[in-house]
Amino acid sequence: MSTSANTFTELYGRAPEGEWAAPGRVNLIGEHTDYNDGFVLPIALPQTVRARAARRTDGVLRLWSAQGGGPVTELRVADLAPGAVPGWAGYPGGVVWALREAGYRVDGADLRLDSDVPSGAGLSSSAALECVVAAAYNDLYGLGLSAPELALLAQRAENAFVGVPCGIMDQMAAMCCRPGAALFLDSRDLTIRQVPIDLAAAGLALLVLDTRVKHDLGDGAYAALRSGCEKAAAVLGLPALRSLDAAGLPAALTRLPAELQPLVRHVVSENARVQAAVAALEAGDPAALGPILTAGHASLRDDYRVSCPETDLAVEAALAAGAYGARMTGGGFGGSVIALVDATAADRVAAAV
Ligand code: GLA
Repeated sequence: MSTSANTFTELYGRAPEGEWAAPGRVNLIGEHTDYNDGFVLPIALPQTVRARAARRTDGVLRLWSAQGGGPVTELRVADLAPGAVPGWAGYPGGVVWALREAGYRVDGADLRLDSDVPSGAGLSSSAALECVVAAAYNDLYGLGLSAPELALLAQRAENAFVGVPCGIMDQMAAMCCRPGAALFLDSRDLTIRQVPIDLAAAGLALLVLDTRVKHDLGDGAYAALRSGCEKAAAVLGLPALRSLDAAGLPAALTRLPAELQPLVRHVVSENARVQAAVAALEAGDPAALGPILTAGHASLRDDYRVSCPETDLAVEAALAAGAYGARMTGGGFGGSVIALVDATAADRVAAAV
């Protein structure tokens, strides 16, 4: 029976050709802005998804995951089609499908996957899984694709194969985040800036608190919010809400139906918060992130309405225990909360939450 002690060689009877890793992420600020062509500011987690892999030449993709708990899953590369692969195997299967759809002549592989990124916690374990497979295929098949190109293929796997209409933040974070920096990403053209962040030097720490709740309404609600934003942009005659700034917001709001106004207010104010956060980090004042994070949470709670009682309570508890700022991170409806704290107060704030 398969256990997490199974090595690649035990599973597949030969040695792997290499090992790849891709991290989970927390987003510091910039939520629900990526699919509006806006700004985001994620950092990589130390936790990663790892893949050991070797090519095959017979059109078969074999997958085994230490967390999946089952036997080896065997897929025929030629039969990969959107919706055809249920469960976690859909992410690696989707990446191979997306590569072939894009015209790359890739064959099968044996893959052994292992992860310490918590799943279902809003920390992008699925993007890390997609990206580690994309990176492995890129090297194994000598495709020569850049990190942003691989991120776009991974996003296409998730959008078109798995069927989740996510933006580009998580895949770009998994491919492009660097140690010691936050990734300032412009989702409109995928330009990036590595913004140095050294919380320890400032006596600070960032807590990532998994509420362990995941509300089911998340999937349908995400798609509905995304299409609400696209509708608002269309009414305003804009390519995306990114094109609207704080100065133009009051006039724009008068042209929108009541139900779309709070969405637009969130996206415009959130883009400004990302820029303010980058300015605070570049000015060497990371504690100034605190109020920006807390304002971002209020906007997600009151305008975008993707928080939930559990994340609201975790944020309030962190602030009451002395955090400089706190907010939910990720898509919402549960998942994780981040809190910026004095390093010496980290245990106390975590215990209070
Ligand atoms: C999920 C999606 C991202 C992004 C966030 C919200 O994590 O995968 O693309 O939209 O939600 O900021």
